[in-house]
Amino acid sequence: MVGHGSVVYMVFAMNLGHEAFSVANKGMEFTVKSSVGTEIVDEFLCGNAVDVARELPDSIVDTIVTSPPYYRQRDYGSVEQIGQEISPAAYVERMAELFSELRRVVKPTGSLWMVIGDKYLKGELLGMPWRVCLALKEVGWVLRSDCIWHKPNAMPSSVKTRPTVDHEYIFFFSHSKKDYFYDADAVREPHVTFSESSKMKGGRRHFGKRGGTPEKGKNSGDSNLHDGRWDQAFHPKGRNKRTVWSISLSKFRETHFAVYPEAPVETCLNASCPPDGVVLDPFSGAGTTAMVAKQSGRKYIGIDCVPEYIEIAKKRMEAQS
Ligand SMILES: C[S@@+](CC[C@H](N)C(=O)[O-])C[C@H]1O[C@@H](n2cnc3c(N)ncnc32)[C@H](O)[C@@H]1O
Repeated sequence: MVGHGSVVYMVFAMNLGHEAFSVANKGMEFTVKSSVGTEIVDEFLCGNAVDVARELPDSIVDTIVTSPPYYRQRDYGSVEQIGQEISPAAYVERMAELFSELRRVVKPTGSLWMVIGDKYLKGELLGMPWRVCLALKEVGWVLRSDCIWHKPNAMPSSVKTRPTVDHEYIFFFSHSKKDYFYDADAVREPHVTFSESSKMKGGRRHFGKRGGTPEKGKNSGDSNLHDGRWDQAFHPKGRNKRTVWSISLSKFRETHFAVYPEAPVETCLNASCPPDGVVLDPFSGAGTTAMVAKQSGRKYIGIDCVPEYIEIAKKRMEAQS
């Protein structure tokens, strides 16, 4: 264990057949002690994510679930932080560099979920989520879905020249163009076609009636629907997950102020991480991704460049165990 400067971190982790590694940051250095044949899991690693990522072994992670610092949104007070770059292009370049490295750490069947919001500068929307998304495609990630996180309790705003923003993007990428782990059944939603709020002509009156659905329109070719054989027309576990997720903001308040709720993380993990898989969050903050991973019996690796946030995350993990 070696330490320089004012802060010394001693992280004892398990390593997948790798020798001990160290990550040097400005004013700190820590060594991750290894024992051959075991894994680097269930640990928070303090450092610049790209430096830590470079030291991680290939193909150890099933899925990444993360929310990076948004461009010019918050100052986390670290010289290593991402998000305070001089230009959008500089931010995108750092993100691409990091996620290119992280792609190596993810298994070929693995994936990445990224929650990311946009930024207005002088009244103009920068389009940051899509700039980052396209840059990640350039470094090899395969974009599979652009989901919208709708926030019913988003902060009101005083703007009068455009709609108030109440959404962020959740991008879903796979590691490669080949098969990837995705458990659609684990994240199905209730069917709504015949709910009270159904807009379908006739609503619930169609239920169970032969020839009860309109003969024209999008369901015109589905004989199961027309014959009232709903059990065969609809998946018994619900409909496939949709791309708009309506989830209220997190209530967790401590030193860390950009904590995301557990609900979207649960969906991401259930969809794309095997029950005993490994989840990585390179911007772990207060440790929400790790908490959800642990709750569901999965393993986690968290990275953050701010020592105080690592401590908060560890305390939250202890409190839930
Ligand atoms: C949006 S917050 C993540 C919050 C987290 N999802 C949670 O629920 O608590 C982004 C985090 O990234 C960290 N961060 C910023 N730049 C970093 C870098 N270069 N390397 C590692 N962590 C960084 C910040 O300290 C902050 O905790």
